[in-house]
Amino acid sequence: MKKILATLILATSTTWFSGVAFTSEPAKAAQAEKPADKAQAAEATTAESAAAPPTKADIMARGAQIVGGVCVACHGLDGMSVVSANPNIAGMPPQYIAKQLEHFKGGIRKNAIMAGMSANLTPDDMKAVGEYYWMQSPKNNAQARDKVMAERGQQIYRGGIADAKVPACAGCHGAVGAGLPAIYPRLAGQWPEYTIAQLKAYQSGERKHPMMNAITSRVKDSDLAAVAEYIAGMRTAK
Ligand code: HEC
Ligand code: HEC
Repeated sequence: MKKILATLILATSTTWFSGVAFTSEPAKAAQAEKPADKAQAAEATTAESAAAPPTKADIMARGAQIVGGVCVACHGLDGMSVVSANPNIAGMPPQYIAKQLEHFKGGIRKNAIMAGMSANLTPDDMKAVGEYYWMQSPKNNAQARDKVMAERGQQIYRGGIADAKVPACAGCHGAVGAGLPAIYPRLAGQWPEYTIAQLKAYQSGERKHPMMNAITSRVKDSDLAAVAEYIAGMRTAK
């Protein structure tokens, strides 16, 4: 069983790493073209700097700057939140993070706190914090506390609920909950309070996404809580 799990984790991380390699290709190419002298680059005219796309290092530095100044208070520098109402976001696909920030800013995803936090972020800032948090390694803070609930949750996560035509969560979020770039968020190790709140928001239609709205509309509350409990206990490295 342990062997199978290790293989799964390995298989998942291989996919993820190839995803990273893929997205960083253009950045690498840009790095080669970039003037070696940073001061010189800073002095470049607007036209020139618009022509040269930022390097991966520039993007990470911008992300770290924003996170260190603002987001750290609730999501930590490492993307692990101390309070269960604030999601852990270490290792979330960068595109998913950027999309959620765009949705908070545009009011598509409604949350008063995050509306304020995203209001001044440009699309490039959103990409930068996405890349920054994606590079952080998830650690374990949440736990599954109720064994019976977690076992029911595991059944749903792996096999869905056939009678209610609910598909297995693993089908989209991955066998070990690591998510999948670009659109499928990581779930493993998430605070159960946050997961339940999001599942209910999809169920009521307050948070809009066709797949998740349809799925949650067919799951009863006790099963939402069970799957959130199981997810909290999933231990998956990025
Ligand atoms: C005062 C606390 C606070 C601060 C500061 C904060 N957040 Fe959040 N963040 C939250 C809460 C609460 C949620 C959950 C919102 C919800 O329930 O929809 C959240 C949700 C998110 C999500 C969605 C995660 C997911 O799994 O869907 C992202 C991405 C995010 N925040 C990024 C940021 C970034 C980037 C910053 C800094 C610019 C930031 N947050 C600053 C409290 C905060
Ligand atoms: C058909 C694919 C699919 C299946 C099956 C699926 N999901 Fe999702 N899920 C998604 C997508 C896509 C998103 C991101 C939606 C968005 O952008 O709001 C998501 C988002 C979520 C979120 C929000 C995460 C966050 O950080 O805010 C949770 C929680 C979640 N899913 C749980 C589940 C559970 C539990 C199941 C099984 C009962 C499940 N999902 C099955 C595609 C799927």
